[in-house]
Amino acid sequence: MDKIKIRGGKVLEGKIFISGAKNAALPLICASLLTDETVTLTNMPMLSDIKAMNLLLEQLGTQINEFDDFVDGHATKTYSYRTRTIKSLVAPYDYVRKMRASYYVLGPLLARYGKCELSLPGGCAIGARPMDIHLSSLEKMGAKIEIRNGYIFAESDGRLKGCHIIFPGVSVGATCNVLMAAVLAEGRTVLENAAKEPEIGDLAKMLNEMGAKIEGIGTSVLTIDGVSSLHGTVHKVIADRIEAGSYAVAAAITRGKIELVNARPETLRQPLQVLKDMGVRISETDNSIIVDAKGCRLVGKDIMTEPFPGFPTDLQAQFLALMLTAEGASMVTETIFENRFMHVPELLRMGANINVHGHASAIVRGVKKLSGAPVMATDLRASFALILAGLVAEGETTVNRVYHLDRGYEKLEEKLKSVGADIVRIKNDEED
Ligand code: EPZ
Repeated sequence: MDKIKIRGGKVLEGKIFISGAKNAALPLICASLLTDETVTLTNMPMLSDIKAMNLLLEQLGTQINEFDDFVDGHATKTYSYRTRTIKSLVAPYDYVRKMRASYYVLGPLLARYGKCELSLPGGCAIGARPMDIHLSSLEKMGAKIEIRNGYIFAESDGRLKGCHIIFPGVSVGATCNVLMAAVLAEGRTVLENAAKEPEIGDLAKMLNEMGAKIEGIGTSVLTIDGVSSLHGTVHKVIADRIEAGSYAVAAAITRGKIELVNARPETLRQPLQVLKDMGVRISETDNSIIVDAKGCRLVGKDIMTEPFPGFPTDLQAQFLALMLTAEGASMVTETIFENRFMHVPELLRMGANINVHGHASAIVRGVKKLSGAPVMATDLRASFALILAGLVAEGETTVNRVYHLDRGYEKLEEKLKSVGADIVRIKNDEED
């Protein structure tokens, strides 16, 4: 397995191009199943999760073409998806266990073909992550759902029926899945307490481009008037706010200055405010965010994760790492997932001062220095927090299990190297 080696202590300076968002691209790919015409997605990030989703769609019968493309002078990928005839309505265990976002095929397959068999994703390192909200909502729309042998068997007799759903909790996945089901349902569906993440807005926008009738985009009430068919479209994937936020912290933690090109400030209001409150200078241009921490003395700040527009759980680990380099204490409270402090024991091995209280909160105290160490993480964002700690630690840090990072950070070493980091990937290390 690959490893990443970092020698800490470099002040990062320059520009980083922000890629298309993984968490937008994954449901957008699945939305292509809703039509027999071609859906073309531009500004696609080159990530292992995208490849995994493409493989799943190919085995369902989707024809996929890949093209090299440029967005603002930066190399990206464009993919076209066409599902003229379906070969299979099954999302098998081997696909779903590797990537739980495979569950995004459920809504579209049920809506267009009236049937889907989906391996039930289990929990993962950050929490139990059940699918009860997805399933009870689809049942309300008329689907018959059974769970047997680790699979969800979902069927609908004719078109799904529009109805009024009040989600019992805010869920990004359930909002996307039910939205994709509702666009082809008979009649009106109203989704209350819907998640408002920008990736959902991007999905709703593309569905409307395909002929869907969705109102209330960006709010917690989505009203969908079902249509009998959708057509193809060309859609540019929204910029990745979590990648942008992660590199914003890279600038802050090294007391450097990075311009995040192609980033969307309106998707990052809370994290940018936290950086400002800590003492980082933030400015915005038409298509970028400039994060300037040169010469700054940062002070600690409390954060609490919440659904959008609150502070994102996907930036909690990175900001926790930043707090280690700030004066005073910061309290980090995680409210979305029940086990999202797995980076803490690894950071402690680098000299961090953190006390975790139960599963929900951590007190982080600024330390004079961190020291490099071999570390490993259990999920994508926790792995990035270790990279960040490595960037400021004295000596060498080796981050193991790089496959977590490859799921969500395109060209990670290349991007960090381009702003001055001393970072290299060691391929296929046999000791791991
Ligand atoms: C999405 O996961 C993201 N994944 C996650 O990003 C992100 O952390 C999360 O939203 C929260 O923002 C993708 O977009 C592919 P949820 P999702 O449903 O949809 C509970 C990353 O690092 N819940 O909003 O799975 C659930 O257990 C990842 O890129 C139920 O109880 O998150 C959690 O506690 C990791 N029942 C909370 O809701 C359900 O039926 C929020 O989960 C569904 C969810």
